[in-house]
Amino acid sequence: MITLKSERQIAMMHEAGKLLAKCHQEIARMIKPGISTLEIDAFVERFLAQHGATPEQKGYQGYQYATCASVNDEVCHGFPRRKRLKNGDIVTIDMVVNLNGALADSAWTYAVGSIPAETARLLEVTKTALYKGIEQAVVGNRLGDIGHAIQQYVEAAGFSVVREFTGHGIGPTIHEEPQILHYGTPGKGLRLKEGMVITIEPMVNVGTWRTKMDANGWTARTADGTLSAQYEHTIAITKDGPLILTEQN
Ligand code: MF3
Ligand code: CO
Repeated sequence: MITLKSERQIAMMHEAGKLLAKCHQEIARMIKPGISTLEIDAFVERFLAQHGATPEQKGYQGYQYATCASVNDEVCHGFPRRKRLKNGDIVTIDMVVNLNGALADSAWTYAVGSIPAETARLLEVTKTALYKGIEQAVVGNRLGDIGHAIQQYVEAAGFSVVREFTGHGIGPTIHEEPQILHYGTPGKGLRLKEGMVITIEPMVNVGTWRTKMDANGWTARTADGTLSAQYEHTIAITKDGPLILTEQN
């Protein structure tokens, strides 16, 4: 079911989102060669507890961690591990914050130490693709407008957009309708209405868009072993345009 949120509900999700953004800022400062994704996960648990929030992903459909931590060719839903990150790696940290029952979801890809120029371009293109999608998240537009803007920009840059994982409505649970495809045809699909809250979260691969699933049943990685990046914001559709809930503003 698609639920339309009241201004009050959106304001509460925005509070959760601001806290999430602050948490990402802390993570950005922690990420260096030698740190492990399990240490980052422990930090997130502590940070959220200190701020009266909880990690909504933990326990969600049996998922065991506060964060998803996807390294290099991992596309999404990587498990935090003891293994240390090394110079030149990229890692996507994805989490859902629950503050007073309101949810916000945001993922960010971080460079570990210094990364090759082509990897930096992957991160830049993926982040810009997210904002191209957000620009289309206005009342009266259709979901295909969001997907098309992302796909067209990413493919023109020579990269590919993952198909098997999508954005989603959010609140009261993590995954609500509608699905937000990061590819599509302009003018097609569901029409956006004031009060919808959705995630836009393009996963962009250097090589093929195809993914394969690890034996753990959660972690997807690129089928060809090339790198994958992801940026995600939670967005409210308002009469004044898209409101990014997972920024510090
Ligand atoms: N934050 C993820 C998303 O963007 C949700 C992951 S569900 C989990 O859709 F169980 F893997 F945490
Ligand atoms: Co997420």
